Amino acid sequence: MGELNEFAKYVPLFAELPEETIDKIAGVGKRRNFKKDEVVFLEHETGSNLFIIITGKVKVSRESEDGKEVILTIMGESDFFGEMALVDGLTRSANVIAIEPSELLIIHREDFLDLLYNHPEVAIALLQELTKRLRAADMRIKSLSLKDAEGKVATVLMQLADDSGKIMQGAVVVEKLPYQQDLANMAGTSRETISRTLHTFVKKGLIELEGGNLRIPDYEAFKEMYR
Ligand code: CMP
Repeated sequence: MGELNEFAKYVPLFAELPEETIDKIAGVGKRRNFKKDEVVFLEHETGSNLFIIITGKVKVSRESEDGKEVILTIMGESDFFGEMALVDGLTRSANVIAIEPSELLIIHREDFLDLLYNHPEVAIALLQELTKRLRAADMRIKSLSLKDAEGKVATVLMQLADDSGKIMQGAVVVEKLPYQQDLANMAGTSRETISRTLHTFVKKGLIELEGGNLRIPDYEAFKEMYR
């Protein structure tokens, strides 16, 4: 269990908690492994557990009217999901599917609510993350309704950079960029458009692609152009 306590210390949601509380969470949480492409849960299912990603990656998706997959976001290590049904008691708002072999920490509703009642700093960290997600969703709505292909693809790249990019001297690096089809399902466009637009960005010197990683050399300038 020691290894799990170590992991929990670095989960942003728990960053302000005293050590013994972290030990308690690690003690009550259950660990479960998911294979690549395994469903964690589906939209409209009932369920109220909170999930934290120990290792791996998941996609959060819904189905559009015409049956296409719309990826709302991709989450990685230390991210959490499942808080919506936990908080409002309704069914799951989206599908969550592992896109890499993943290990998840599952926390029961009562245990998480206990944490929120007894440690307001966890509630504040939760609100901060939900605010970030709402801002990202607002940005997506704007991009989907207003922008051309470049704007749509740029919005997805900024979402990935803000979620999981490493910033170094004004540049941002996103390791292991998702597959082009997944990028297309995030941007609401086709795989061909993703391929063509990434190529245009490379030619303009706005991004670099190498070994599956994305680098945006001047991230502030990129945001200025497409935000
Ligand atoms: P829940 O509704 O319980 O199950 C699906 C989960 O996906 C949801 O909780 C959130 O954790 C997550 N989720 C839903 N919509 C978004 C979004 N727009 N951005 C990020 N995460 C989301």
